[in-house]
Amino acid sequence: MNQHTKIYVYSLAGLLFLSSLIAMLYFGYKTFYIEKVESSQPAYSYHFALVAEETENNYWRLVEKGAKQAAAEKGIYLEYIAPNKADNDQLLKLFDRMIAAKVDGIIVQGIEGERFVDLVHKGVERNIPVITIDTDVPSERKAYVGTNNFYAGQLAGRHIIENTDGEQHVGVIVGRFEAINQQERLAGFKDAIKAHPRIQITEIKESNITEIGATQATYAMMKQHPEINVLLGLSALDGLGMVEGLQQIFPTKDVLITSFDILPETMELIREGEIDATIAQYPEQMGSMAVDVLIDLQNRDLVDNKIYTKTEIIEKADLQVEPEVAR
Ligand code: BGC
Repeated sequence: MNQHTKIYVYSLAGLLFLSSLIAMLYFGYKTFYIEKVESSQPAYSYHFALVAEETENNYWRLVEKGAKQAAAEKGIYLEYIAPNKADNDQLLKLFDRMIAAKVDGIIVQGIEGERFVDLVHKGVERNIPVITIDTDVPSERKAYVGTNNFYAGQLAGRHIIENTDGEQHVGVIVGRFEAINQQERLAGFKDAIKAHPRIQITEIKESNITEIGATQATYAMMKQHPEINVLLGLSALDGLGMVEGLQQIFPTKDVLITSFDILPETMELIREGEIDATIAQYPEQMGSMAVDVLIDLQNRDLVDNKIYTKTEIIEKADLQVEPEVAR
């Protein structure tokens, strides 16, 4: 090999060596480099679940808001889950799923039937405190947070007694017949009017906790019983639907309308004089109190485990001063 060829061969070998070194470093880096990922594991003290009646219902969204706020303040992860449309079977499945997920506590709307009672038992057996919200059910639940529904029904009765004279034919709209809180409100209402035979229930229909359902039920009821001169709605969207239904069939008829809850649209109708009064519940407060109660239950059982949130009648006259948003 002459001098020239040698230089050539050595340079080529050197070049080859260098390029393979670079390639090795580059691909080795690509293969073995593990990106440093910030730990996405949040430092939550507890994981609670709130199982509601219906996902997009404005009333339940307020319960969720209160619960999430309280949870955020206390470093708790709160999961909100519910059937898309009110459905007891679905709710029970979600409740069961949360037990299986071994959350640290469950807030759930109480529903009728043995399956619910059994699931509460299952949760408690696995050391998961369960509390009912909005609707209570006799069970091993550790506490109830929400309205005294019987009393709320009595309030509605009292309002109608005090604001009418002579014979009254009442058309009642309930959210769902199978909902215990609706049954209790109705029982409270009947109890209040029982000493006043001039006030009689003419018909009771279901809205399926939707505004359109309440509109249709009102329309049908008024058509069949045009003598109805009092309408009472026992769940949050019934007031809106009753006003609409009445408007469609008897736009000028003077009917005393009593609704439930203080959703903004309902308050607007009270301001406009379309709804006479509403029975206020405080869902945000229920949500936040329920979280506080679940925290307490992590360490001890409660002696006083029926925690009633505020319930009151609100009429137009009360709206000069905004209703107290109970916290
Ligand atoms: C009741 C809830 C119900 C909601 C429906 C409220 O008055 O307390 O149980 O889900 O109305 O809109």
